[in-house]
Amino acid sequence: MHIIAVMSGKGGVGKSFVATGLAAALHRRTGATAVLDADITGASVPHLLGVPRGARVDAVGHLIPGVSPDGIRVASMSLMLPADDKAIIWRGPLISSAISQLFNDTDWGDAEYLVVDMPPGTSDAALTVLQTLKPNGIVVVTTPQDMVTNVAKRSQDMALKSEVDVFGLVMNMAYAVCPHCNERIEVFGPVDVAVEGDMPRLATLPLTPSWAALADEGRAGEVATEEFDSMADVLLAKLETAEAAS
Ligand SMILES: Nc1ncnc2c1ncn2[C@@H]1O[C@H](COP(=O)(O)OP(=O)(O)O)[C@@H](O)[C@H]1O
Ligand SMILES: [Mg+2]
Repeated sequence: MHIIAVMSGKGGVGKSFVATGLAAALHRRTGATAVLDADITGASVPHLLGVPRGARVDAVGHLIPGVSPDGIRVASMSLMLPADDKAIIWRGPLISSAISQLFNDTDWGDAEYLVVDMPPGTSDAALTVLQTLKPNGIVVVTTPQDMVTNVAKRSQDMALKSEVDVFGLVMNMAYAVCPHCNERIEVFGPVDVAVEGDMPRLATLPLTPSWAALADEGRAGEVATEEFDSMADVLLAKLETAEAAS
């Protein structure tokens, strides 16, 4: 299975939004994409992709993933909880072992591509994902503000130390467009001044209220499809090149 991990230096920058949008695009291209929701305490992938809740374990103890209306398999702690407003209050080691279990015990079927919604930041749990899942590469999600404060660079640094490729960077919430005058407002600071090391820019996504509304309705796979489709093409090509080289 090819594994792409979506990371961010901190929470709330749209990591899950990008992970689900990217998974939907990869699924449009490949028909064989799944998502591992490794953000155990902030699990939101089922909600974003409209996956129905319910405990899913088969007779031999394998976890049966949830499935989105588009056919994307999703493994997430939130599918096993009675309600989204119940907190998971676990210490680091327990979270790390939950991630490993979700990955190892899930019946991924014929999925060939796995998008991982990482725990935010450069915590223990994030390190677990990089070391145990050994993703083919990571996608770093940032806002312009994160670039200025070097928050995104920490993800890059962690990936490099774990010997995982950095596929590139998604600049999210880069700007908003005024619905009245079409003026472009750079909400979190200038988009182009941002320093981004040697991470290629995979996409620049505006902060768009209608996207937030769709995502909240479980239709995150239907937003920014052009941007996510071209990102999927770039990543599929990178995976192929890496494979040919190895
Ligand atoms: N480009 C965007 N335009 C509009 N809303 C967005 C955008 N990116 C993310 N959001 C919304 O912002 C909120 C936070 O994003 P989320 O993906 O949950 O962040 P994270 O996973 O990094 O904590 C969500 O409600 C999400 O739907
Ligand atoms: Mg999230």
